[in-house]
Amino acid sequence: MQFFLDTANLDQIREVADLGLLDGVTTNPTIMSREGGDWREQAARICELVDGPVSLEVIATNHEAMIKEAKDLVSFGPNVVVKIPMIAEGLKALRELTERGIKTNVTLVFSPAQALLAAKLGATYVSPFVGRLDGLSQSGMEAVEQMRTIFDNYDFSTKILVASVRHPLHVLESGLIGADVITLPYSTIMQLVQHPLTDSGLAAFLADWEAFQKK
Ligand code: G3P
Repeated sequence: MQFFLDTANLDQIREVADLGLLDGVTTNPTIMSREGGDWREQAARICELVDGPVSLEVIATNHEAMIKEAKDLVSFGPNVVVKIPMIAEGLKALRELTERGIKTNVTLVFSPAQALLAAKLGATYVSPFVGRLDGLSQSGMEAVEQMRTIFDNYDFSTKILVASVRHPLHVLESGLIGADVITLPYSTIMQLVQHPLTDSGLAAFLADWEAFQKK
């Protein structure tokens, strides 16, 4: 399973890359706006820094304008993946971008049927928002499981990119289901590293060693 970082923050990107865990980055308008400054400069820096796919999202909501924006976004680097919202106009844009060989990430996906549409139109990635579904008392991971079954049934090459991740259990369940990619907030990656028994175990080893040295 590939790990993407769901951020536009350069320090977080560098830190996770240093851990050797960074396979790519996803952004959205909210994430980009959090960094402030000139988004074009920020996007260019991210694309240069990341050795892997970088999702940049269109703002337009009609397909002609989406295509125009997509052409601009891909100029930031060869690793750009154009993020398109799962709306009817987005599907029109998706078809054209697929024909042009531009990589796409269909975002704001909340049902397996929406994912099926995106896969039929050749999306590179489809992003189910599991945390937001859980927030409505619907199971985000159950939706991902159904997407996995549908994509396998028809041998779709579209990758399932689990998004809107809230906690380490989402990561575990994504792995068990066989999701291709998960995009994580920086805090969740750091949570994955830690376990209280690791910390207490290490403390005990070091204390025992120190006592032994003093004998
Ligand atoms: O980037 C898309 C997604 O991961 C956003 O998640 O936390 O805004 O529900 P969230």
